[in-house]
Amino acid sequence: MSPKPKVLGVLTGGGDCPGLNSVIRAIVRKAHPEGIQVIGIKNGWKGLVEKQVIGLDLTSVSGILPKGGTILGTSRTNPYKDPAALAALKKHYSELALEALIAIGGEDTLGVANRLFQEGFRVVGVPKTIDNDLSGTDFTFGFDTAVNIAMESIDRLHTTAESHHRIMVAEVMGRHAGWIAVHAGLAGGADVILIPEVPINLEEVCKLLRKRHERGKTFSIVVVAEGAKIQGDTVTQEGKLDEFGHVRLGGVGHHLGELIEAKTGFETRVTVLGHIQRGGSPTAFDRILGTRFGVRAVELVLRGEFGKMPALRGNEIANIPIETAVSQLKTVDRDLYELAKVFFG
Ligand code: F6P
Repeated sequence: MSPKPKVLGVLTGGGDCPGLNSVIRAIVRKAHPEGIQVIGIKNGWKGLVEKQVIGLDLTSVSGILPKGGTILGTSRTNPYKDPAALAALKKHYSELALEALIAIGGEDTLGVANRLFQEGFRVVGVPKTIDNDLSGTDFTFGFDTAVNIAMESIDRLHTTAESHHRIMVAEVMGRHAGWIAVHAGLAGGADVILIPEVPINLEEVCKLLRKRHERGKTFSIVVVAEGAKIQGDTVTQEGKLDEFGHVRLGGVGHHLGELIEAKTGFETRVTVLGHIQRGGSPTAFDRILGTRFGVRAVELVLRGEFGKMPALRGNEIANIPIETAVSQLKTVDRDLYELAKVFFG
């Protein structure tokens, strides 16, 4: 058992996500009665490299529960890419007298957290991503909000698709995994759902759409995850990589829409939902999950269980090694995709 820390740092890294503020609020509310001072590190790992911090007290987290984004700001800074940045980060960690750190993030932020833990830093993780592709946890917060936004958009696309007798392609987020596409597509009654895990078979997609039109339907909804592959390739907006080596995705919807229209002759329109899915107020599910994760993260700090993170397993919050979340991607469950296929065409 480690001694209770007097100063605890908290940061949010990677893509923002509805529910981040619920976690920050829960951390401060749980730590404050323990007499722990919480320091908010701004803009992810960048804030520790550049020593940009703010004090977090009960006043600073008041009223933030329904707010989207993160009051701390975020970045995709990878301190392990630059030895000078890493040295600065370590220097500032000690200058700020941090005795523990909670890093809230996805695979990249948690990957850095895990490396720091392996180097002896007292780090606890909190899993975050709208993509829901982190292993070890049934769900990440942010995912439910994104799915609901995408579902509502699909509902709206239905009425205009039906009026104009068109194919509507809706491109949703999902870099490596099609969780948002499958959940939103199922909930929204999509006629075809395409995900990164299963290469797109254009002939098959067009066959399904023709079959549907043969049985009297004059419109269809196709949901495609941004990371879905056409002829083995992902569609990218630009070749530039971020600090973690990720290319900027986007464009598969437009590419697919053109191909579908050319092959079927059905008039097709494309909607890219993009960051709309990541913005705005979190659902009740995400606020509660974020709150449970935040409280548990502080409990892990108090118990000296570093290198771990809370995870949702069924209805329980489990404590699992950060390593579990970062070592393997959680891709779409094949049974769920087979279920979604029942409704294709
Ligand atoms: O955080 C995950 C995610 O939303 C992915 O679905 C998407 O590919 C990526 O982030 C886009 O991030 P940004 O535009 O912020 O670089």
